Amino acid sequence: MCGIVGYIGNNLCKSYILKGLERLEYRGYDSAGFACLDTDTYRINHQKAEGQLINLINKLSDQAIDSHLGIGHTRWATHGKISEENAHPQLSCHKKVAVVHNGIIENHLDIRSNLEAKGHTFLSQTDSEVVAHLGEIISNKTTKDDVINIVTSLQGAYACLLMSSDCPETLIAIRKGSPLCIGLGHEQIIVASDPFAFAGQTNQVLFLPDQSFALISKNIVEVYDFSGHTLDVPISQVDITWQDDEKLGYKHIMLKEIYEQKNAIQATLSNCKQLDLTLWDQLGLTAQRVENLRSLALIGCGTSWHAGRIAQFFFEMICKVPTRVVLASEFRYAPFFHEENTLYCGISQSGETADTLECLRLLNTLDVPTMALTNVESSTMVRETGGFLLTKAGQEIAVASTKAFSTQLVALYWLAHRIALQKKYITMESMDRAHDDLLITAEILENSIEHYRIVIEEKLAPYYAQFKRFIFLGRHIGYPFAMEAALKLKEISYIFSQCYPAGELKHGPIALLDNDTPVILFSSLDERVYPKILSNAQEVKARNAHLVAFVFEGQDELQQLADCVFVFPKVHPLLAPLAMTGLMQYWVYSIANVLGCAIDKPRNLAKSVTVE
Ligand code: F6R
Repeated sequence: MCGIVGYIGNNLCKSYILKGLERLEYRGYDSAGFACLDTDTYRINHQKAEGQLINLINKLSDQAIDSHLGIGHTRWATHGKISEENAHPQLSCHKKVAVVHNGIIENHLDIRSNLEAKGHTFLSQTDSEVVAHLGEIISNKTTKDDVINIVTSLQGAYACLLMSSDCPETLIAIRKGSPLCIGLGHEQIIVASDPFAFAGQTNQVLFLPDQSFALISKNIVEVYDFSGHTLDVPISQVDITWQDDEKLGYKHIMLKEIYEQKNAIQATLSNCKQLDLTLWDQLGLTAQRVENLRSLALIGCGTSWHAGRIAQFFFEMICKVPTRVVLASEFRYAPFFHEENTLYCGISQSGETADTLECLRLLNTLDVPTMALTNVESSTMVRETGGFLLTKAGQEIAVASTKAFSTQLVALYWLAHRIALQKKYITMESMDRAHDDLLITAEILENSIEHYRIVIEEKLAPYYAQFKRFIFLGRHIGYPFAMEAALKLKEISYIFSQCYPAGELKHGPIALLDNDTPVILFSSLDERVYPKILSNAQEVKARNAHLVAFVFEGQDELQQLADCVFVFPKVHPLLAPLAMTGLMQYWVYSIANVLGCAIDKPRNLAKSVTVE
């Protein structure tokens, strides 16, 4: 995690770097820092602040430090507590070299003790500081060999930017594992973890290949691999826009994004439809391969993993393809059994999540078909997988995922139908019906928020905000959805929330039921499952626990049992989670809002998790 930005060009580095950091703050907001080279004294000036970027901006506002060369950082703490000493840039002895780093230097303790034995003094607890000390070999005659010297000492995954007062016309960018890209402007170059940092300034982007580094001056970028061979990296045109007025009148970005879901679903669906002729090509498949497809593996983390767990029902029930859904962080180190005709699909809003990305990279080395379902076209996953499908949620900024989740469900539901059509399990008519069902469900998603908005805001949220813990229950397709609801509540309100498959309640967790632990139950439209859900609700009420039920029209017995009900119009049974998504998110959001939580940037979290 962490966001890094570097600038070389005219005397404007402060404004470019702070603007870039603002846009990368989603990657971590534990502390921030900035360094630039003072060209009169040839010394490195720096400033750091604990907490969100605004604290750094305030500190810098009355300081006239700026220059043609600078670096900046926004941190998600891994090594060392949150403090100014541990904020980046990290500096070498005598402040000759400054470094910003994203990733983990795994052998930092060994390097540190070697350097300490040679007389270096360390001031922080970070793994990153070793890079600054190693950087002391940089001189005004710096060559690629100096950088190779530095990288050969380092183990782990990292993206680093280095500047040295001895080498005032060069910015050094190194990439292994963690992302780094270079925006080429007119007589100025901006380097960042993500092209959003310079959107609007330039759309000419050089994505630094993995295990490479660049020596960057105002007009020239030289790229080398770690053996010193020159790399000829193509310049991509990346057309991304950054929406500056993020809240558009909403109290929080998360609330705005909850309300953007209907449009995001429509945009995702029309993107899917437009692809029809080129779809298999874009997914790195052929029609023949799809017809022969025997199994699917969906890989993701957090909310994206939940979307995969729900989509398992789509693929198994609609196109009859056995599907397993794996947590990326577990799959990577589990034994791998090659299965013919299996497609591996990474699901990731950002397209950068290290756990998922590393799984896909591993699979690429095994020469099995990989694809990514992601929301970011310029992401590493799009570039590195065999194929990709895009959700069109638009930029998702709030840390808690909302519209990315619903659009993932939409894209996966549509894809399951498209595979079924290719395998001739369904007709074009069913395909069109699926499309219409999705649009109807998107309407319900939005209308249900409006229907309950006032009662939630005025009555229900203040009431439920008093509880210290919740139990979430669901069955069948509703179980992964209940997991998503529990994750959302704990992420943004810090209330302890545990989720169980409703049928498992009686096998142990029922012991937890008491007056202080509300149970949130998500109903099902599957005729086989609903009666079982009803029994589970009865078990809860028999123990006098407080029951909140998300139910569908006509499910009268469940409605009568619950202490609080939210009723939804009926949809296709597989779309029940999508229908309930907006209201579930709004209910959770409203509780966190009553508690006054930092909803858009919850404590300890970051939007893009680029360390394993
Ligand atoms: C939860 C949330 C996280 C992400 C997870 C994967 O609200 O946002 O759980 O879903 O970190 O991120 P992506 O989808 O970018 O791979």
